Amino acid sequence: MKKLVKLTLSTMLIAIVFASCGGGASKKEFVADLANGKSVYDRSCIACHWKGVSGAAALDDKPRWEEMAAKGIDVLLPNAVSGFTGKYGAMPEKGNCLDCSEQDLFDALSYMMDQAGVEFGN
Ligand code: HEC
Repeated sequence: MKKLVKLTLSTMLIAIVFASCGGGASKKEFVADLANGKSVYDRSCIACHWKGVSGAAALDDKPRWEEMAAKGIDVLLPNAVSGFTGKYGAMPEKGNCLDCSEQDLFDALSYMMDQAGVEFGN
């Protein structure tokens, strides 16, 4: 009986883990609004991502944006939302735009990819 409960619990856990990776929130399809992306960028991301301050990818550093694009949106967006410390430096939570929605961050990211000349997303 105990075993069965354990098994059920672990099956549920696996299901939850799968749901959070595969389905659900991370599978939301965003459509980029580059005009909104520019205004978010001008407000927040520009501080670091224009010239590449403190390890951020500069807008004209295409290889860095290609490296990021290769990670895919399912990795990049959550990292932009919660913040991310990688081999180059520390990306702050929401890129310091604390009132930004996921859509705003996606737009800003799409705008920067566009400026860098990297094909990205939809
Ligand atoms: C205080 C500086 C700073 C600001 C402001 C900032 N970033 Fe960053 N960002 C960084 C740094 C540094 C990295 C590189 C982290 C690494 O790869 O080591 C980074 C990386 C990223 C990444 C890649 C994450 C990954 O998984 O590789 C995304 C996406 C991103 N920034 C989006 C944004 C957006 C969108 C904004 C504006 C809303 C923004 N950033 C504002 C510093 C900043």
